[in-house]
Amino acid sequence: MRCTVFGTGYLGATHAAGMAELGHEVLGVDIDPGKVAKLAGGDIPFYEPGLRKMLSDNLAAGRLHFTTDYDAAAEFADVHFLGVGTPQKKGEYGADLRHVHAVIDTLVPRLRRSAVIVGKSTVPVGTASELAARARGLAADGVDVEIAWNPEFLREGFAVHDTLHPDRLVLGVPPDSVHAEAAIRELYAPLLDEGVPFLLTDLQTAELVKVSANAFLATKISFINAISEVCEAVDADVTLLADALGYDPRIGRRFLNAGLGFGGGCLPKDIRAFMARAGELGANHALTFLREVDSINMRRRTRMVELATKACGSLLGANIAVLGAAFKPESDDVRDSPALNVAGMLQLNGATVNVYDPKAMENSRRLFPTLNYSTSVIEACDRADAVLVLTEWREFVELDPRDLADTVRAKVIVDGRNCLDAGKWADAGWRAYALGRSSTV
Ligand SMILES: NC(=O)c1ccc[n+]([C@@H]2O[C@H](COP(=O)([O-])OP(=O)(O)OC[C@H]3O[C@@H](n4cnc5c(N)ncnc54)[C@H](O)[C@@H]3O)[C@@H](O)[C@H]2O)c1
Repeated sequence: MRCTVFGTGYLGATHAAGMAELGHEVLGVDIDPGKVAKLAGGDIPFYEPGLRKMLSDNLAAGRLHFTTDYDAAAEFADVHFLGVGTPQKKGEYGADLRHVHAVIDTLVPRLRRSAVIVGKSTVPVGTASELAARARGLAADGVDVEIAWNPEFLREGFAVHDTLHPDRLVLGVPPDSVHAEAAIRELYAPLLDEGVPFLLTDLQTAELVKVSANAFLATKISFINAISEVCEAVDADVTLLADALGYDPRIGRRFLNAGLGFGGGCLPKDIRAFMARAGELGANHALTFLREVDSINMRRRTRMVELATKACGSLLGANIAVLGAAFKPESDDVRDSPALNVAGMLQLNGATVNVYDPKAMENSRRLFPTLNYSTSVIEACDRADAVLVLTEWREFVELDPRDLADTVRAKVIVDGRNCLDAGKWADAGWRAYALGRSSTV
């Protein structure tokens, strides 16, 4: 089959390459000519394991192309995926839908045949119906435009795997839908043949599934971080506690890692947009708990700065190595990254901060140009008064304390992700601090 994918960022580029990998002819469309040129040349404008290979294989097979040309895209296919960004509005909790609207407003008048537009972006409930009305007003006579919603659950760092082997496929269709289900079943046939669960819903349920999933995950992380605050107060060990909770299959161990909390381009803005939308719908009481989830999460960042202060004595004039800048490992995404946020706060408090991240240096420099950036762990740790691990990259988890001993000024390690073997660091003569434990090991 043929399809287009509008927006070739983290979601769209992966989806376009994934659809081509499933055997379809795909045209990726973006308004950023630099991004399009990179992708067309087999290069990805961000870091995602395995994506470069899937992209170049499918470019070479002639199944995948990229363009900025909406006319070409309208002509190319009758199924159009929509994966543009839906960031938080400036100064408000709600989602900014201007990019989604721009795709509809630019694409629909160009359609010469009836088509299905399948939304994948994360949007406030009600958006798809609103877009359907908008599309009806813009479509040429005789051109029928169906809007369906197929929320995306991929995780950065595992995006290729999640696209080719999703946990489930959810498709929301309007009551009068004619083509969407058949088109999507055909496009995803190899996945359905593998037994991936397929849930057909109305539009509003599909939209809500995605934001509810993110709200649940955010709540689980903030739950363990709230418990971690209590652990710190009584000198209990939150990691052991999480292990013990995790054996209960009703609870599960995943997403119970206490630490610096969540960030990135999805969870924070999605829970805020969910609260804003519930308020508009008159159901604001239903989601007030998410405000607490958000504030527990943001408190982790200040708590980390307090812990660094305790570890150094004073931040003023301290030389601090920050290992990690991406919001999570295996990604170069620094949108609302707790690590970079903490690095910035340390600097505001008078510390000299040297940041190193295996993949996120370029993005970090763009967002926080005033921090110092190092090209290796050793360089970042040079004469450091404390070493902070703020993103749990494997390279940091596996660090040997002996390799840094002669580089640092003081053997002080602060684990913001509860990812280090504290005993190993203590045995090597380091003072080891971690979020969720009141004292040093
Ligand atoms: N990143 C993820 O892991 C992930 C996972 C699930 C869902 N989502 C959702 O997917 C959506 C996209 O997220 P992302 O992380 O890929 O964002 P992104 O910022 O990486 O990519 C968005 C892309 O859309 C392009 N764009 C903007 N306006 C356009 C237009 N009018 N026409 C064509 N292209 C346009 C931008 O240039 C950019 O390349 C968001 O709603 C997000 O919440 C993201």
